[in-house]
Amino acid sequence: MSEKVYPVLASAKKSALIDDDTYQNWYKQSIKDPEKFWAKHGKRIDWFKPFTKVKNTSFQGKVAIKWFEDGVTNVSYNCIDRHLKKRGDQVAIIWEGDNPYLDKKITYNELYEQVCRLANVLKKHGVKKGDRVTIYMPMIPEASYAMLACTRIGAVHSVVFGGFSPDALAGRIVDCESTFVITADEGMRGGKPIPLKDNTDKAIDIAARHHVRVKNVLVVRRTGAKTGWAPGRDLWYHEETQSVKPECKPERMKAEDPLFILYTSGSTGKPKGVLHTTGGYLVYAAMTHQYVFDYHDGDIYWCTADVGWVTGHSYIVYGPLANGATTLMFEGVPNYPSVSRFWEVIDKHKVNIFYTAPTAIRALMSAGNDPVAKTSRKSLRILGSVGEPINPEAWEWYYQVVGEKRSPIVDTWWQTETGGILITPLPGATALKPGSATRPFFGVQPQLVDNEGNVLEGAADGNLCITDSWPGQMRTVYGDHKRFIETYFSTYKGKYFTGDGCRRDKDGYYWITGRVDDVLNVSGHRMGTAEVESALVSHDTVSEAAVVGYPHDLKGQGIYCYVTLMAGLEGTDALRKDLVAHVRKEIGPIASPDKIQFAPGLPKTRSGKIMRRILRKIAEDDFGALGDTSTLADPAVVDDLIANRQNKK
Ligand code: WTA
Repeated sequence: MSEKVYPVLASAKKSALIDDDTYQNWYKQSIKDPEKFWAKHGKRIDWFKPFTKVKNTSFQGKVAIKWFEDGVTNVSYNCIDRHLKKRGDQVAIIWEGDNPYLDKKITYNELYEQVCRLANVLKKHGVKKGDRVTIYMPMIPEASYAMLACTRIGAVHSVVFGGFSPDALAGRIVDCESTFVITADEGMRGGKPIPLKDNTDKAIDIAARHHVRVKNVLVVRRTGAKTGWAPGRDLWYHEETQSVKPECKPERMKAEDPLFILYTSGSTGKPKGVLHTTGGYLVYAAMTHQYVFDYHDGDIYWCTADVGWVTGHSYIVYGPLANGATTLMFEGVPNYPSVSRFWEVIDKHKVNIFYTAPTAIRALMSAGNDPVAKTSRKSLRILGSVGEPINPEAWEWYYQVVGEKRSPIVDTWWQTETGGILITPLPGATALKPGSATRPFFGVQPQLVDNEGNVLEGAADGNLCITDSWPGQMRTVYGDHKRFIETYFSTYKGKYFTGDGCRRDKDGYYWITGRVDDVLNVSGHRMGTAEVESALVSHDTVSEAAVVGYPHDLKGQGIYCYVTLMAGLEGTDALRKDLVAHVRKEIGPIASPDKIQFAPGLPKTRSGKIMRRILRKIAEDDFGALGDTSTLADPAVVDDLIANRQNKK
């Protein structure tokens, strides 16, 4: 780990909303008297009925988390209506197409009309407050209209990443019993079409077999491709939105009314529906967006995430729009039509704040400096990173080459569950250390514990917990509160356990070391080993599978699969290919296995538990350090695993 320290840049300090004194003062206040602190900052959004209660949270027993609970508000009102007087003609969304000649600017006035029309379409087709709407969309403005339209009428959206397969989409539709889907004919990424409507049709058939009947599919015409069409069920977006009124009164929502569900992977079982609610989430997303990115009026802000992930929710749509910002939405990929694309878009739209993922930085770094150097990037003021630990080499390249040492990097640590950023530098306040997410945001109390739950003080390495609630925290697992308690609050009683390992250094800086559970982080995408395993064993030839991660230069982690075949079958390269294709079909391309090793046996304890520690070591080609294997039922399997390892260095 790098020991380098970069002091706060004078240029960043000069204009910053928060300097180090302010950070220290506010942080202290936020911990000493959270009621008072959040009562003040809760007012940053507009309330139809002001809250009188601020914090009512417990991590004990049944775990109940409520913020601003008697307040009444509406998210779309806060993201649109309240800005209209001052910013009606200001650009809310800059859309940059996959094709570099396609772009669009949407003002707050236009956003208002689009969202109201869509909200009226939803209402016309019977969508009511509390109903779940699934959004399966490419990165086009209609994706944000769809999210905001749901919030306007109090429907709960569940956005499913456009890269997920029909099976994965179906599972998510079924889990939250969603009967209305918004999609597009196709998506367009890197010049290649993605058959979203066809996938949706397949997913709906699968969902029907699980007794969830989708009543309507609203389809945006993006490419004009021919797709299947179910008359009566399928509706064209452009037709429906024309035949309704351009205004729609925002629903009065209680602070704790559900806002959205977002499915995310855990160490076991199917993806969980992370539920976020209205008031606290919006306050937290907006406040972190403003201070972490030091957002000033008029700044052009670009987060390269997809709206299918939490980063897209909080930092493309809700945080920025609640702050009346101009947010850029990019349909494409970093290397199309060339590896200069990110930097060209920055120049084209004069982007001031740029927020991306280490996996993209590493990929672009491997293309060398020329594709960057030929662009200006002089508009840039702040750089951000999210999704996985950023290695110091990538950090340095981002800082030196992309930012030319003029822009601080905010390495923001958070999770789908946290709703917003929890550990991060603030540009005008925090000295930077490459690879460290640095210090907690206001109101956030990190704690490190060892495997037995003993609290570690001072400089230490342990498991990262958070000891008290913050407004953006998830409230439950949709439909399964027991799973919520078991997953997050029972490993270390009374604490929120993040699943991440972390080191705290002598300056109190936090260094996230990666997941300590069976969750993989592949190119910043979160994936459960159990999900990949269950996809593998659903193949006819597979009797058993165990999946682990291993360090991968570009992806952060690669997916390494140990597969035991049915008796009598032989592992061939053709079968390997078939298994890769099968996992892609079951989950989606992001889950493509990198390595498949055919294993006649897996290392198990006498009670039948797979010893993943051993599998991880072999996948890392580090089998000299296997540790104690004496508890294995059949120690000989290890020799075979080592002999046939797929990752020889
Ligand atoms: C990892 C994404 C190190 C971490 C917002 C976490 C990070 C998981 C960072 C959540 C970071 C995210 N440094 N690790 N700056 N940001 N992670 O739910 O392991 O998709 O638990 O949320 O990503 O992934 P999720």
